[in-house]
Amino acid sequence: MTQSPLSTAEADAIVAKDEQYIMRPWTHPKGEPVIVARAKGCVVTDVHGKDYLDFTAGYFVNNAGHCHPRIVEAATQQLTQVLQVSGKHGTIPAILLAERLVKLLPASINQAFFSTGGSEANEFALKMARQASGKADVAYLENAYHGLSLGALEVTASEKYRESAGKPLGDHTYTIPNAYCYRCKFGPASGCKVECLDGVDAQFAARPAGAVLAEPIQSVGGLAPPRKWWDRLDALRKKHGMLLVIDEVQTGLGRTGKMFGLDHYGLEPEIVSGGKGLSGGVGSLAMTCAGTEVIKKFFGGTTPTSGGNAVSAAAGLALIGTLLDEGMIDNAAAMGRHFTEAAWALRDPWIGDVRFTGLLGGIELVADIGTKAVLPKKALAAVKDALHDAGMLITMSGTHGNVLRLQPPLVVTAAQIDTFLATLKQVLATVRAAG
Ligand SMILES: Cc1ncc(COP(=O)(O)O)c(C=O)c1O
Repeated sequence: MTQSPLSTAEADAIVAKDEQYIMRPWTHPKGEPVIVARAKGCVVTDVHGKDYLDFTAGYFVNNAGHCHPRIVEAATQQLTQVLQVSGKHGTIPAILLAERLVKLLPASINQAFFSTGGSEANEFALKMARQASGKADVAYLENAYHGLSLGALEVTASEKYRESAGKPLGDHTYTIPNAYCYRCKFGPASGCKVECLDGVDAQFAARPAGAVLAEPIQSVGGLAPPRKWWDRLDALRKKHGMLLVIDEVQTGLGRTGKMFGLDHYGLEPEIVSGGKGLSGGVGSLAMTCAGTEVIKKFFGGTTPTSGGNAVSAAAGLALIGTLLDEGMIDNAAAMGRHFTEAAWALRDPWIGDVRFTGLLGGIELVADIGTKAVLPKKALAAVKDALHDAGMLITMSGTHGNVLRLQPPLVVTAAQIDTFLATLKQVLATVRAAG
């Protein structure tokens, strides 16, 4: 516990007002929402003073940790200079951030277009792909998540989310297989010749699309394809003259142990989207970056009113500097390895798979390691609730909802990971014993 800035009565009143005035159109697990009064590094403190180890990094935004002093300082300085001028004009931090991003991205990328969130960044990516290719169709991966606005939903696989739009959605998108190697449809005997992509050549031929849109590593479930999977898909899309659009909203900015997820595969996409941590956690900022050929044909359709906010851009620049200067990307890679080894070392009969690329990924829970049967919903909920009670903030993820998504800020220490795993060990044993 940490001393709360509020009395218990004041804290209770804030929680009650949240319930009364904030719309939360989803079912939330016991103990949520956490109303956060303060946050620092990997720890958030609620209005009653309860501390949580935040293994969500504020929903995968605060890569340098909550309230990093260098980001706070950069944003504070910018506050007295200029705040917002719209995408129609420019500010010094937005221009410098665009330069920094273009230099960090592959040579196929030449300019950045700023908007306000990951969904919007993908809306612009879809527009760019359609305008540049002259084709309406876009292929995307099974299990994909690219946002919840109407256009982004068309390339988001989950039926639950798609239903939220009040169907029908448009019919200009279609899925191609993803790489869920733990549950490979071809079984361990396949020797992995990337058989999952065998039908894609014919799919592309039957239905020519302007682009393939994909995360380099699927954040939902932490599915990192082997290099040969990406090599094959990249060759196929080139053969069919399709653009490659890479969504770095969650995989970007050091999360995977490299600056961008695409760096693991040597991809050279024509379009890259990003968001989440790009604002350093200050306001909201997103990017849709592209190469010259795409840019020449992009006629926008809007200049985002709030795109490229100067304070968010100053904070984003500070974030990138901090990630590099303080070795946080290397720490993400090292802590991902530590997490993997230490989680396997628990030898828990419910731990079916441990998948980390840097600090993107998590632990897949199964009822039976041999059959890989998904742990039943009741047990999953009990695990999540017990972790929450013990002060561990996580989310559940994955195609079957059985992956503990563990994505702390990149400053997380081995000791904090060990604390989490010691709690998890106890929680799994307790839930199992309770039947
Ligand atoms: C890969 C990916 N793309 C797009 C989005 C949408 O971003 P936002 O919630 O900022 O609209 C998300 C959000 O979780 C994401 O993980």
